[in-house]
Amino acid sequence: MDNEKIIIANWKMKLNLQETLELAKSIKAKFKDLKKGEIAVCPNFISLLEVAKILKGGKIGLGAQDVFWEQKGAYTGEISPGLLVEAGCKYVIIGHSERRKFLMENYEIIHKEIKAVLQVEDLIPIVCIGENWDERKTDRRDYVLYDQLQQALSGVDVVGDQKIILAYEPIWAIGSGTAIEPSEAEYAHKIIKLTLNNMFGMEMVNNNFKIIYGGSINPKNVKGFVGLENLDGMLVGGASLDADEFYSVVKAVL
Ligand code: 13P
Repeated sequence: MDNEKIIIANWKMKLNLQETLELAKSIKAKFKDLKKGEIAVCPNFISLLEVAKILKGGKIGLGAQDVFWEQKGAYTGEISPGLLVEAGCKYVIIGHSERRKFLMENYEIIHKEIKAVLQVEDLIPIVCIGENWDERKTDRRDYVLYDQLQQALSGVDVVGDQKIILAYEPIWAIGSGTAIEPSEAEYAHKIIKLTLNNMFGMEMVNNNFKIIYGGSINPKNVKGFVGLENLDGMLVGGASLDADEFYSVVKAVL
């Protein structure tokens, strides 16, 4: 992939419709002079069309927080990759730990979603992986990351210039207010990079993949993550709900 850093806002289910649209407007205005880097916001499903209208003509990309693995059919309540593209999305988050926890998403689901997204042109999956506290404290993180990558991406064909973003989100750091130590993130990103190299080859990984960090990033702690090896950007939750805070995070990274 290009060397541009990417910072993605995950608004989760934290805002109502009006708040979502107001935040989208503030962020669009705040970032109008953005010269480098890529920024995207991921609002809830029902705001996508309106947020797409707001962002039109600006520098901010649009992403969704989930997707279904079929393109069309009798799947009540689901949204296909094609529909997301029609709504204006360039990105979609897949396998967020909150979905794994509350909606029982497993790696078979995540695997199918990635494959379905890659079948659609111009939609980039943001695949979330990360260990929980128990796995970390018993020193199993490296294996968990390896295993999650295998389960999510084995047998996935990446062709041409298709892009995949891997988001390392240690579950225990999400929403905790405290990010992990930057050196720990750097180590985990190295494990991810080496595993991807084994699966896809270094050239493809350098060209087609980005690895980003998520988990309690804020304007204060983000500086520690700047310049780390194999860190191509951030997935930001809480600190992306305020345009000024999000701007400070982005400015520190770019
Ligand atoms: P927080 O930044 O609120 O910890 O959320 C991180 C996250 O889950 C992004 O997907």
